[in-house]
Amino acid sequence: MEKDLSRVLLTERELRERVTELGRQITRDYNGRPLHLVGILKGSVVFMSDLMRAIDLPLTMDFMAVSSYGSGAKTSGVVQVIKDLSSPIAGKEVLIVEDILDSGLTLSYITELLKSKDAADVKVCTLLNKPGRRHPEVTLEVDYEGFIIPDEFVVGYGLDYDEKYRNLPYVGILDPRVYGEG
Ligand code: IMP
Ligand code: MG
Repeated sequence: MEKDLSRVLLTERELRERVTELGRQITRDYNGRPLHLVGILKGSVVFMSDLMRAIDLPLTMDFMAVSSYGSGAKTSGVVQVIKDLSSPIAGKEVLIVEDILDSGLTLSYITELLKSKDAADVKVCTLLNKPGRRHPEVTLEVDYEGFIIPDEFVVGYGLDYDEKYRNLPYVGILDPRVYGEG
């Protein structure tokens, strides 16, 4: 898989250290109150499994799956719920866990959707943020972010291209020739 990358962007160690820090910050901010994590499948699973073990709070979790990308590398802007929450979130303090904020369309949609289900609070935690790619109509604020990254297509640590590379233990920049632009 490594030959398909132009370079490693975030090493295993950098990821581990930053995720531990995020967990500490979340633990401090929620100050003993119960937290309900909602992971967005499938990209967030690796991040979420590390993050939740770095959080020292009474914690419950759920997952949602949405589709916004198909199999390509460019956003379609269309968000469709593929798998809904399995339990109600009314009255809960919810923290959405996402792999990457790109155009921001996916997270904006999910945030509004969860707010409309009477959660006590909805906050957002993304591992990666590409601020240069934000859609002009998106005004979403991120509460927790791991790393700001350049406008490049990245894979690994849960992130895929065409469902592949999610199992890489680090984050790398995919060589553009893999998706036919090199
Ligand atoms: P957004 O709606 O444009 O913010 O897209 C968010 C989703 O697009 C993420 O959850 C990812 O699944 C996917 N995505 C965006 N950028 C990348 C990338 O660089 N690598 C892999 N997936 C990406
Ligand atoms: Mg995703």
